[in-house]
Amino acid sequence: MANKLSLTASYIAVKFYGLTLNPNIASFFDSFTITFYRNVVSYLPKKLSWNQKALKSRVWRNFFVWWEELLLPGDLMHILSRKYYIEHAILKALNDGYEQLVVLGSGFDHNGMLWASKNIPSFEIDTYSMIDQKKKMLEQAGYNSEDLYLCAIEPANQNINDVLLETGKFDLNKKTIYLAEGFFDYLSLESTQSILENITTFSTDFKLISTFFDLSELNFFHRFMFSSGVAMVGETLKLPLNKKEFIALLNEFHITIEKETCYSEIEKDLIAKMETDLPVMKGFYILESSKSYLKP
Ligand SMILES: C[S@@+](CC[C@H](N)C(=O)[O-])C[C@H]1O[C@@H](n2cnc3c(N)ncnc32)[C@H](O)[C@@H]1O
Repeated sequence: MANKLSLTASYIAVKFYGLTLNPNIASFFDSFTITFYRNVVSYLPKKLSWNQKALKSRVWRNFFVWWEELLLPGDLMHILSRKYYIEHAILKALNDGYEQLVVLGSGFDHNGMLWASKNIPSFEIDTYSMIDQKKKMLEQAGYNSEDLYLCAIEPANQNINDVLLETGKFDLNKKTIYLAEGFFDYLSLESTQSILENITTFSTDFKLISTFFDLSELNFFHRFMFSSGVAMVGETLKLPLNKKEFIALLNEFHITIEKETCYSEIEKDLIAKMETDLPVMKGFYILESSKSYLKP
């Protein structure tokens, strides 16, 4: 997935933008978030940004939703839900005393800019080309914050601790939130282990907010559609773990789950209020965890 515009990151923005053109859905989000993804879509290359005009047509929007639901039911609403729950989980962590944010595989996510604009030091880590794209997008849309640090990484040769330290602004003593949204699924087991090791050796007090797809909960056809959809845009779902195994892996690094939000709860809690009967993708979870201390 190195060194090019991530199409998975781009489509997340397109889908979020399209769905929040519905005022019922938009009312659940802050205007900052809505505007941010609209700005991302206008920045994207033409083959993607045409959606900005097209999705304004209700007929096209309905067709887009129908088509998406046919191929992979719940994919659209899972995007919307992760943006909603993660923003709230970060806010809660900040209110609980966490002081800085690291966004792993930040893509076009809005959280770095959102929290930096509220003076929370925020560090986004992504490949060189994606960080370059993000810088240009932020510049084009007029975003600017002294508390936002965009950190480019060459995953094969650098580790996240080094790129964070290079900013000269990452404070090892501050309570840190690591956000891994749509991130670990795209990494091999070895890379996931090495990032978890980096985080745990680096930060003494941290919270990890992560999404997780348990592909084993999807039927064969939907599993195939998910993996091949990602493959069609040149990326790969690599992490060969189900949810139980992923949680066991976190535990190996003394990271314990504090809260698990699953697709069916999201449907009852959030989606029902949005007055839509669209499902949330089976096997989708938001996991909030933190490092547990071993008593001497
Ligand atoms: C599916 S996108 C998710 C983007 C964003 N987190 C979101 O949910 O909107 C995955 C992102 O991870 C980045 N990525 C993949 N492997 C990476 C690695 N080893 N280190 C840093 N970023 C990586 C990709 O470039 C891409 O922007």
